[in-house]
Amino acid sequence: MKSLWLKKDIIENFPELKENLESEICIIGGGIFGISTAHYLCKYGYKVVLIERDELASKVTGHTTAKITSQHGLIYHYLLNQYGKDFAKKYYEANQKAIENIEKIINTNNIECDFKKQTSNIYTTNKSEIQKIEEEIKALNELNIKAKKIEESPLPFKIISSIEFENQAQFNPIKYIKGLVKTIKENNGLIFENTTCYDIKKEKNSYICYTKNNKIKTKYVIIATQYPFVNFPGIYFAKMYQSSSYVIGLDTKTDLFNGMYINIQSPIYSFRTAFDEGKEILLIGGLDHKTGENIDYKNSYGLLEEKAKIWYPSCEIKYRWSTRDCITLDKIPYIGEFSNMLPNIYVGTGFNKWGMTSSNIAARIITDKITEKENEYEYIFKATRINPIVNKDEVKNMISQTTKSLVMERIKENSKENIDDIKEETGKIIEIRGEKVGVYKDIDGKIFAVKPVCTHLGCILNWNDADKTWDCPCHGSRFDYKGKNINNPAIKDLEKIKI
Ligand code: FES
Repeated sequence: MKSLWLKKDIIENFPELKENLESEICIIGGGIFGISTAHYLCKYGYKVVLIERDELASKVTGHTTAKITSQHGLIYHYLLNQYGKDFAKKYYEANQKAIENIEKIINTNNIECDFKKQTSNIYTTNKSEIQKIEEEIKALNELNIKAKKIEESPLPFKIISSIEFENQAQFNPIKYIKGLVKTIKENNGLIFENTTCYDIKKEKNSYICYTKNNKIKTKYVIIATQYPFVNFPGIYFAKMYQSSSYVIGLDTKTDLFNGMYINIQSPIYSFRTAFDEGKEILLIGGLDHKTGENIDYKNSYGLLEEKAKIWYPSCEIKYRWSTRDCITLDKIPYIGEFSNMLPNIYVGTGFNKWGMTSSNIAARIITDKITEKENEYEYIFKATRINPIVNKDEVKNMISQTTKSLVMERIKENSKENIDDIKEETGKIIEIRGEKVGVYKDIDGKIFAVKPVCTHLGCILNWNDADKTWDCPCHGSRFDYKGKNINNPAIKDLEKIKI
């Protein structure tokens, strides 16, 4: 089932790059961050080429819940304690400004994208979490951020407490991208789809971006691939992980409510309304887990559907989709210079599930860097920062998971099952001729066999039975059952095995 946003071909298609090019700026990645940056830079008259390895906005941007908000969980108590008042306040202002920027782009360019001002609420149904709400309210008061404590909601269950931000928003991200693409074309920007960048090399004062058969010579490079595909320098793979989550869209057969909602703690449930052919439906998202963990339908979409049927007994499930987000260890996105060793290469990543505002902040900061304007929020998001890692548990988890997948899984005894033991529409790693082989059997019994070793840094993959993909537990790369790479940081497909 496609996501609600991608069910129709709203954005036009662009050709594959088939010649060598020279440009001032090469943007690698056609999601909301890459396209927003192209929008701004083209407006300033720069010569911009944007390349996307699939179709524009077909990955995270096409699978988001598209909430545009500065309410990022209970982040302000954390920021105030860790980084102080000025920092926390600037983080808030940067995100509020991003909401205003998005609205301005929509109004100036007459983009019809179901943009709607909403309140955003973070709630709890659990008495033990009241203290956290109180701490956040205290931090918000200290920062002079307008917020209300509310103890009721229109949700189909009782909440105990919540914090409401006004002047937040929601939209249809694909219709918004369509509008931005129009402005890029009007300002002579070039866009190519189905064009993968495999390498970037420095050549005197320029960079060369290599695609399969061609190259782009450019002064500036912007890596907008959600998870950077360049490993060194930068080592972003050691500074963040990917988190998977699920969304269902349902016709509740009831009247719906205003406002966007999310709860505090795992399992996460997030709510917003959206338009489907003019009719309002409800999107329920959540159930996050680290990408690459073994997962099945029952514990992902199945759980959301079960809840939906309890809350809205007559509902009809119309959409199901999943997404991945890059999560940074200090909860702040990485935006700006990719590495101190590579001038004029910029990055925006680690948006921590709040990619609608973060992508605009990133687009503004990088545009200001290139146009040599000061940006008062740049220091907050500096991608080359070396901060003490606050979240030591996350670091430990990352290291132990990577060691397990790189070393232990390789030497673990192979499953004694054979191909006949694998059920239809299921995948498994089994031993064939003494080697580990990832085997998927489709509904007709057809076999697809791959080497289950991630083409990023060599971790052993896990089968994801919810989405029928091979997922990497180390840094979250994903491959379809035929072995085609569908999510970074890996960029190469899996080796196919003949059996
Ligand atoms: Fe890094 Fe797989 S994503 S090893």
